[in-house]
Amino acid sequence: MAAWRAAGETVALVPTMGAIHDGHLSLVRAGRLVADRVVVSLFVNPMQFGANEDFKSYPADKAVDEAALSGPGVDAIYAPTLSAIYPEGFMTRVSVAALASGLCGSHRPGHFDGVTTVVTKLFLQCGPDIALFGEKDFQQLQIIRRMVRDLDIPVVIHGVPTMRDADGLALSSRNAYLNEEQRRIAPTLFQALSALALKAADGTVDCAAAAKETAADLLAAGFSSVDYVAVCDAETLAPMERITSAARVFGAAHLGPARLIDNVPVAG
Ligand code: PAJ
Repeated sequence: MAAWRAAGETVALVPTMGAIHDGHLSLVRAGRLVADRVVVSLFVNPMQFGANEDFKSYPADKAVDEAALSGPGVDAIYAPTLSAIYPEGFMTRVSVAALASGLCGSHRPGHFDGVTTVVTKLFLQCGPDIALFGEKDFQQLQIIRRMVRDLDIPVVIHGVPTMRDADGLALSSRNAYLNEEQRRIAPTLFQALSALALKAADGTVDCAAAAKETAADLLAAGFSSVDYVAVCDAETLAPMERITSAARVFGAAHLGPARLIDNVPVAG
């Protein structure tokens, strides 16, 4: 990368935890449009998993991922070892407190501190000009935008729209956990959030009440529990009572062994 930079080439980084799918590849394609070189990092980051979460079973396989990234478009893969990221005695945390406390943050304590800490390290180790993140994880994207602004990190952040299957289900490494029946139910999350976004767009609707109905719809469809459904300001992620500014609908729910998340914009 130093040689590329010395030659005046710009570098885009696509951080991932592997288990590469078309959603990740859409970030690579977007990276190609804005930089001369694209680097993909593969690192399943233990710090962002809770004690009862799926770190041990996370479906990444380095050989499979390298093959998935071997086509044109990827100039280098960065797959650091655990000790390259977390040397003996590691104790530093990067935390974007308030933005990381709502939505997924309130159900996954410490998760976003794990994300912001590892992303800071990946940025410092790789020194990209640009980094790309998916809107699929919209809260993560906003937290990283805030972090680079707050810490003067010289990396331009690009958000990339969510890539979906034909039935609307957002592509995710965790979709691999779903059996046939669960896979049939899974697109209901996108459909229910889209219906709520349509309803909320009429500024007279009580967003909290409508979100509650959506959560009930998800349970009726077969989700085992709903972590949250919420209509939030698209910048601050604060819950909204009625739509008064740019907004997004967010949801997270459990389906069999998978925890699925999604979000959609409210037409403004
Ligand atoms: P991971 O879940 O592997 O996702 C890597 C990147 O791909 C993230 O920016 C995510 O938002 C994006 N992505 C995932 N599914 C997508 C889809 N269907 N459409 C578009 N983009 C999608 O997110 C992480 O890893 C980690 O938290 C990480 C940022 C790498 C830090 O460890």
